[in-house]
Amino acid sequence: MKRKLVVGNWKMNGDLRRNARLLEGVVRDLPDGIDCAVCVPFPYLPQVQEMVAGSRLRLGAQNVSEFADGAYTGEISAAMLADIGVQFVVVGHSERRALFGETDDAVARKALAALGRGLTPIVCVGETLAERDEGKVEAVLERQLNALTAAMEAGQLARLVLAYEPVWAIGTGRAASPAQVQEVLAFIRAWLRERVVDADAVTVLYGGSVKADTAGTLFGLPDADGGLIGGASLDSAQFLEICKAAAAVSPDKVD
Ligand code: PGA
Repeated sequence: MKRKLVVGNWKMNGDLRRNARLLEGVVRDLPDGIDCAVCVPFPYLPQVQEMVAGSRLRLGAQNVSEFADGAYTGEISAAMLADIGVQFVVVGHSERRALFGETDDAVARKALAALGRGLTPIVCVGETLAERDEGKVEAVLERQLNALTAAMEAGQLARLVLAYEPVWAIGTGRAASPAQVQEVLAFIRAWLRERVVDADAVTVLYGGSVKADTAGTLFGLPDADGGLIGGASLDSAQFLEICKAAAAVSPDKVD
């Protein structure tokens, strides 16, 4: 069993004052025994990097260009993120897929670009409610995951963090049930087992309306290695409660 990973996704929220207040508490009270990162809007990366320096809180971004450099106005490259100390980057969040037209293939290229610069991509996958109602959960996940294998080698696949985020559970206050989460995480793990040498070593997260009172149960599931937290990561007390719940189900000794 590995240490739990808790990642906050601030989405398009925050300002200098609010970020400082939020992070002060998180940096001060972050429990031992887990890995933790916050993925913040691009303009605040330097501010947050300065605030987390010397702490165990890691820095993440929410998007990255699939291109290396050059005439791509408005894009931010993996090299730029690595240059300023970013370690994680969310790739293929359902909001980017739905609102900004990111395809499975583009998501895979972004993940590859991030890996190429030593960043850890957190690749989000998940079905809509309509797809779930039509019994297509596994088909959708397989399509999203297979795009990754088409773009990268097994060794690269093994370095990704995968986040199962059912679209219907994001920002709705309606987290998937533990049984629903475990079923899909086990499917992802089985998919990994056929493709990478040590599938159990790959970090697989759950995200979607995780709150302090559900985090312990969800992160304690056999195939859950932690969570991706949206709304609740904007409140330091709530985020810390989630981190503590993760610590409580994290192994003391990492093997
Ligand atoms: P939520 O968002 O926790 O607000 O549901 C999760 C996410 O979008 O990563």
